[in-house]
Amino acid sequence: MKIAVIGTGYVGLVTGTCLAETGNNVICVDIDANKVGKMQESIVPFYEPDLESLFKRNIHNGTLSFTTNLEEAVNESLIIILALPTPPSEDGSADLSYVLNTAEAIGKLMTSYKIIVNKSTVPVGTADKVRETVANYTKHNFDVVSNPEFLREGVAVNDFMKPSRVIVGTRSEKVKKIFSELYAPYMRQGERLIFMDERSAELTKYAANAFLATKISFMNEMAGLCEILGANVEEIRRGIGMDDRIGKQFLYAGVGYGGSCFPKDVQALAKTAIEIGGDFRIVDAVMKTNYAQREKFLDKIINYFGANLKGKKLAFWGLAFKPETDDLREAPALYLIEELLKEGVEIVTYDPVAMENTKKQLGDKIGYAKNQYECLEKADALVIVTEWKNFRNPDFDQIAEKLNDKVIFDGRNLYNLERMQELGFYYNSIGRQL
Ligand code: UGA
Repeated sequence: MKIAVIGTGYVGLVTGTCLAETGNNVICVDIDANKVGKMQESIVPFYEPDLESLFKRNIHNGTLSFTTNLEEAVNESLIIILALPTPPSEDGSADLSYVLNTAEAIGKLMTSYKIIVNKSTVPVGTADKVRETVANYTKHNFDVVSNPEFLREGVAVNDFMKPSRVIVGTRSEKVKKIFSELYAPYMRQGERLIFMDERSAELTKYAANAFLATKISFMNEMAGLCEILGANVEEIRRGIGMDDRIGKQFLYAGVGYGGSCFPKDVQALAKTAIEIGGDFRIVDAVMKTNYAQREKFLDKIINYFGANLKGKKLAFWGLAFKPETDDLREAPALYLIEELLKEGVEIVTYDPVAMENTKKQLGDKIGYAKNQYECLEKADALVIVTEWKNFRNPDFDQIAEKLNDKVIFDGRNLYNLERMQELGFYYNSIGRQL
């Protein structure tokens, strides 16, 4: 099938590449000429495991190409996938200007039947708005489909190739037939392909992210209780996760969720509830808990040093909002660093892949180490914010030798409590103590 993907962020580029991999002819469009130029030279614009080999292979095969020319892409494609940003507006609602401006442009350019697909996370009713916008500018037939994406950064290719489910919001029988064929290579006998109306599909995406964020905030509040009651949140996680009705995943307490999706989508859902005159109390609490969680972690560090905080040097392991990505959007590390800088703390950092992006954002306000051990040199404490594999089983002798004091604040519960006690560390983690 001939497909255009508009927008080459994580969702757009992974979608385009994975659709090309199963034999479709995919043309990706972006307004950023510099980025398009790089992609034409087979350079992936961000870090995502497993993407590069598929990307290069399909460019080489001629099944994946890049352009800034929307007209060419619209003319050549039956399916036009919108994978555009929907950033929060000042009031917290999703800003649809990228989506609707593109819908207008497609309406003006199209010269035959098209299927226009919303892959971006968009508020309920956006498919209708896109339909109205396109209809204002064309006399040709078209369908608008809501096909939200559930892939996670860091495992995006695997998530796309082996989806837990694919949601297609459409009431058109013609579209259902085409999408059954499009997604057949990714399905086991089609049982994971779910058709529903557009509005339900749009809301399903928010429900999924908000539910997962709720699990995390629930566990973070549990961790707070554990700290007061002398229980261990890791034991609670194991104890409840064995129940299939609860499930093992997304029960890890930490420094709060970040990234480009959960914070934005939870906020947008809360905003939607207010707009329709109601409220969504659980979602409000999830947001508050998430912000409180990173503040609590900050307070642990501030309180430990007390009046002596100013002038201390802290080593940060991990900057990205989660492992296997160089994405810093809503990363808890950035919040912690900014707050500690205000307190006059010196900060040195190490992250396996997010250093370049951090340099662009924070410049020389902080230090950047060549490796995780250099980062510790003469620091007064180690602060762990992202659970990269390199940090899971480190050389504790080197840590003890390099740090001024054997002090670790661990926002990801990476180490065994008994071991840390044996090694003589002051070890402050989330929701557990000896
Ligand atoms: C999330 C969803 O998991 C995807 O299904 C969805 O497609 C995507 O948003 C999106 O809407 O585009 P992503 O933001 O890539 O994916 O990252 P997650 O792996 O979900 O992690 C989100 C945050 O939750 C991270 O900050 C992570 O550290 C935190 N987290 C996750 C926890 O604190 N505890 C957990 O147990 C799990």
